[in-house]
Amino acid sequence: MLIRTAEQDIKYVLFTEEQIASRVSELAKELCARLEGKRPLMICVLRGASFFFADLCRKMTMDLDMDFIAVSSYGSGATSSGAVRLLKDTRYDVEGRDLVLVEDIIDSGLTIQYLKRLYAARNPASITTVSFLDKDTGKPGKPGVDLCGYTIANEFVVGYGLDYADHYRNLPYIGVIKPECYQ
Ligand code: PRP
Repeated sequence: MLIRTAEQDIKYVLFTEEQIASRVSELAKELCARLEGKRPLMICVLRGASFFFADLCRKMTMDLDMDFIAVSSYGSGATSSGAVRLLKDTRYDVEGRDLVLVEDIIDSGLTIQYLKRLYAARNPASITTVSFLDKDTGKPGKPGVDLCGYTIANEFVVGYGLDYADHYRNLPYIGVIKPECYQ
């Protein structure tokens, strides 16, 4: 069993706990304003978005439903395999509902594009996409989200739900890991 340490592998802290909390509060406020008078169905894309989802939902001052879905597009490496698979669907009938798809990070955009198409076909009233991070990959035509916490450079980030080969999800901050860890 390999045990990694943040002291060894983290190049620098990109967003502190305090910065994250403050930005999550802003996003929650923005979502509440957009969805005023509705009862949104908040959908967490496991596993990376779990901390962001929990923090976001508890900052939203409105009635809402919460559910969890699981999608896999990555193996244990640092780059996307490109193939999106739905591992666990929502238990709700989404027809006529205002859906909020919550992601931790948009990289290639393939996952969010897949999910938007999947749920759009079930006739929801609306779909709002939100991601805490959006990676600037420099690729033209990349699918985006409606609301984003931060756009970041094309570096490998971990923490606050984001992992590298299942390590570092539980870091309370978001950090950039040293390239030598995954090269
Ligand atoms: C990550 C992340 C997003 C997706 C983004 O999930 O949580 O769902 O990749 O990448 P994309 O924009 O290139 O599609 P991952 O498959 O690593 O699973 P995890 O959340 O369980 O770590």
